[in-house]
Amino acid sequence: MTFHINILTLFPDMFPGSLGQSLSGKALENGAWSYNAINIRDFTEDVHKTVDDTPYGGGAGMVMRPDIIEKALLSIENPGRKIYLSPRGQQLKQPLVQELAATETLTLLCGRYEGVDQRLLDAHGFEEISIGDYVLSGGEPAALIMMDACIRLLPGVMGNKDTAGEESHSPETGGLLEYPHYTRPAEWVDADGNTHAVPDVLRSGDHAKIEKWRRDQSEALTRERRPDILKD
Ligand code: ADE
Repeated sequence: MTFHINILTLFPDMFPGSLGQSLSGKALENGAWSYNAINIRDFTEDVHKTVDDTPYGGGAGMVMRPDIIEKALLSIENPGRKIYLSPRGQQLKQPLVQELAATETLTLLCGRYEGVDQRLLDAHGFEEISIGDYVLSGGEPAALIMMDACIRLLPGVMGNKDTAGEESHSPETGGLLEYPHYTRPAEWVDADGNTHAVPDVLRSGDHAKIEKWRRDQSEALTRERRPDILKD
């Protein structure tokens, strides 16, 4: 199965962007995922290629027209799950990422200016998803982030199958933050001459002890940094 993403945008050249590099870039070449960036402006019919207009009721900025976006949307044979990236949406969390990554086809609508006409979202059943409580200049970077989070979960995309299960926010670790990692050298002397040793337990070879230490670290870190996501 190929994970396919249609993107409705005024800036198709923003894709695949960073997703053309590294593991997601390889996965794109291998056909683990594919995308089609559709330029909404190609569906205008006036000489100025107008996609937006002033808001009814007044106010700042411009609003993207529903008729133009609809033409772009209807050019997609199988849109699958339709998502509008918006700071008003449901916040993207790892369980939703897992759900989206298991979906065959997504269509992501990227807004610019003040946003898109509400009637388009209502008429075509777009769900709204936000990547966080801050406002970007457009939906494209949000779409890239959401795509990245999904693509790395696709079968065969990450080298080590276990890696995706033991990380921060994944339900497999109870949604806790991930424990700290260490590698060689065992004793590292920093530029100021201070020596930093790797915690002894990690070099003990006692796997039960190591697992407990990691779980304790995860809990302590989560309690300190993100008490809001601790369940008990
Ligand atoms: N577009 C602008 N800001 C956004 C956000 N925080 N999440 C998703 N889409 C956006």
